[in-house]
Amino acid sequence: MRYLLIMILFFPVTAWSVDPSQPQGSASEARIWKPLAADGLHDPGNPALVELQQPGEAMAMFPKDFATIGNQVDWVRALEQGVIVPRTNIFPDTRIEVLDLDIIMDQTSQMPMVRFPHKAHTQWLDCVNCHDKIFKKKAGGNPVNMFAILSGEYCGRCHGAVAFPLTECRRCHSQARRTFVGQYGAQEGPGKPFKPVMKQEIIGLNE
Ligand code: HEC
Ligand code: HEC
Ligand code: HEC
Repeated sequence: MRYLLIMILFFPVTAWSVDPSQPQGSASEARIWKPLAADGLHDPGNPALVELQQPGEAMAMFPKDFATIGNQVDWVRALEQGVIVPRTNIFPDTRIEVLDLDIIMDQTSQMPMVRFPHKAHTQWLDCVNCHDKIFKKKAGGNPVNMFAILSGEYCGRCHGAVAFPLTECRRCHSQARRTFVGQYGAQEGPGKPFKPVMKQEIIGLNE
């Protein structure tokens, strides 16, 4: 009985202690996507539905994410591994900046600290998507808290909408206080600010 209780007590902890930097899931775990006709989004009576590729076929080769996460694809890894190569820009003179700068956010009470990675964001987003409307460009300079996030502010503008959901606490709260060495806030290295990491051709409108 006591053993069972310990199991129950520790289960959430072990379930959470996943390294967020690693691709999730194992090869043996099958992911299941609903066919388009049964996903509740598409009209099953639409005769053109057969023209669309089924998600099970389209997404099966992408890096895995948890079944609890949207379409079960780890999009950051898909980009890193070159599985997808989205266009960086439409207009040839658009300047692309990928910033490799992590911010350690320490106002997390009993939770592990938040490691905000600029790199994983600026590979998809422009600086102006966040600065300065959502976040002032200063580590610790924004009154971010979980209530505001859950109300759709700050990180909650995207997470739970177009990026992984807020139920994945550990993916944001990924930095244990105990093992952290150094200063909170903006981290020096490994990457330097403004270092472009994407090797992509700039595609002009007429090409
Ligand atoms: C999208 C990223 C993200 C996710 C997911 C997330 N948090 Fe947070 N959380 C934050 C940020 C950012 C802060 C504020 C950190 C700061 O200002 O230093 C925070 C702060 C907190 C705090 C500190 C007190 C407060 O109210 O702000 C707690 C407790 C907390 N989160 C718990 C959770 C729990 C539990 C979950 C999962 C249900 C969760 N968080 C999911 C980003 C996230
Ligand atoms: C997804 C949102 C997001 C995007 C996109 C983004 N940032 Fe940030 N940035 C943040 C957050 C969050 C912080 C930390 C704010 C805090 O701690 O309150 C921050 C902080 C900063 C800081 C302050 C560092 C310090 O030393 O205090 C700089 C500089 C910065 N960002 C530059 C940029 C640049 C340049 C780009 C584009 C290449 C960019 N950011 C794109 C969210 C973003
Ligand atoms: C403007 C939209 C936007 C905002 C604001 C935003 N994110 Fe994200 N975030 C994304 C997108 C898009 C991705 C990539 C898709 C995914 O992983 O779901 C992402 C991915 C991440 C990842 C995963 C990195 C990886 O290596 O897998 C973390 C961690 C993260 N965000 C934390 C945060 C935190 C913490 C905040 C607030 C301080 C925040 N994000 C604010 C859009 C945003």
